[in-house]
Amino acid sequence: MKFLVLETKEEVAVKAADIVSEVIKNNPKAVLGLATGSSPLGLYAELVKRYKAGELDFSGITSVNLDEYVGLSEDHDQSYRYFMNTNLLDLVNINKENTHVPHGNTDNPEEEARKYNELLESLPPQDIQVLGIGINGHIGFNEPSDNLVVPTHAENLTENTINANARFFEKVQDVPTKAITMGVGNIMRAKKIILIATGENKREAMRRLRDEYVSANNPSSVLKLHDDTIILMDRAAYGE
Ligand code: F6R
Repeated sequence: MKFLVLETKEEVAVKAADIVSEVIKNNPKAVLGLATGSSPLGLYAELVKRYKAGELDFSGITSVNLDEYVGLSEDHDQSYRYFMNTNLLDLVNINKENTHVPHGNTDNPEEEARKYNELLESLPPQDIQVLGIGINGHIGFNEPSDNLVVPTHAENLTENTINANARFFEKVQDVPTKAITMGVGNIMRAKKIILIATGENKREAMRRLRDEYVSANNPSSVLKLHDDTIILMDRAAYGE
């Protein structure tokens, strides 16, 4: 695991886009593992800019997203499918049939998780997986706990995560309490991983990732066991 500290979140976005662009150029049929949330927004804007400038071709690309809330329909403006469509997938020439986000609008999240895991296993490993990090150290929605789950599964969100995500909803009671998420095994299968962390509120998560042993209480710590992971952060997240 390597740490790369840049001055601003804009520089982080450009660097992340450089890394993802190289993957796409090296393999026009690459599988991209994608995340939602504030962290990758600058990356996606930069990829769209490069696509519009004729520098990138997404026509052969497949995408697999990390996670989805349980209980939101795909057109709900806080669903992760909606986020991906509006921030990247509808803005580039990717074949939408090759874009995958777990189906959260279901009465049987465990069954949807099992199907998504099967789908991931039927595809080549992600050429690159983009991650953000929760202030509690979660990756995807693998929350701190006594155990880490390897395959895709349904997970109850912690109070900490529900409160952190309440900023996107009218009231905290509207935040879904469950999500379907890739497990750590699905994430670690990626050939390359970039984790984006910007802003002061990620400082403690970055400190723990640097200083702590690998533990299920800090799911991001498993990335220490992956041999091509770059932690891309801005000065505010680094803290010095
Ligand atoms: C999103 C995801 C989450 C976020 C994390 C950070 O698909 O899997 O792990 O990456 O909660 O969220 P932001 O970037 O909004 O701070």
